[in-house]
Amino acid sequence: MTILEAIRSRHSVRRYKAAPIETELIEKLNQEITACNEESGLHIQLILNDPECFDTLFAHYGRFENAVNYIALVGSGPKDEVYERCGYYGERLVLFAETLGLKTCWVAGSYGKGKCKAVVNDDEKLACVISIGYGATDGVPHRSKPVSKVCNVKAEEMPDWFREGVEAALLAPTAINQQQFLISLADGEPVIKAKRGPYNRIDLGIVKYHFEVASGRKCK
Ligand SMILES: Cc1cc2nc3c(=O)[nH]c(=O)nc-3n(C[C@H](O)[C@H](O)[C@H](O)COP(=O)(O)O)c2cc1C
Repeated sequence: MTILEAIRSRHSVRRYKAAPIETELIEKLNQEITACNEESGLHIQLILNDPECFDTLFAHYGRFENAVNYIALVGSGPKDEVYERCGYYGERLVLFAETLGLKTCWVAGSYGKGKCKAVVNDDEKLACVISIGYGATDGVPHRSKPVSKVCNVKAEEMPDWFREGVEAALLAPTAINQQQFLISLADGEPVIKAKRGPYNRIDLGIVKYHFEVASGRKCK
């Protein structure tokens, strides 16, 4: 499966099989996490077999099941900037996991932040986590806004690469499926801005990653 295929097949999965993740897949995930940390300066960590982090009322209410593995997104710097970077590299890991046959869910609210086992140094913040494991389901496609609500370029003025980027951006996971972003063109270059909403900076990084993979263009 390619990353583009992963963009189409990925949906949030909150119920997992009880089976532990195979050693070979753990190694591949850790290699990709190391590559992300080297490139971004983040301190992303994979935590395995920890049932406590999702043992909260919110998690039960959100119907998380067998959620015992997670990727903790940790980094230092100004909050907005760290959150965006965590979104960008976290989504790279989500899509990589999908190519390995693992299912994921971004989680910023339905977990015990104080129970998270990741190392968070004094100058660092824990942005959120991503639960990961073998899916008990494949999830379902989310309801999506129309292109005109997230993009101010007229359909007839869109280059093909831009349309592909926008379509992939609409497939991105966002907090409470809010899709609070605006994609535009400035001097022929793509620009994506966050609109107001909870965790909008994490969403922004996620959406930029989708747009860049599908369009082949770097965006601001
Ligand atoms: C930053 C962020 C935070 C999220 N936090 C939670 C959460 O706390 N609990 C939860 O059940 N889902 C959470 N989600 C998952 C979203 O609800 C989900 O991505 C959205 O509804 C779109 O569905 P999809 O991921 O299946 O495409 C979060 C997603 C993002 C991007």
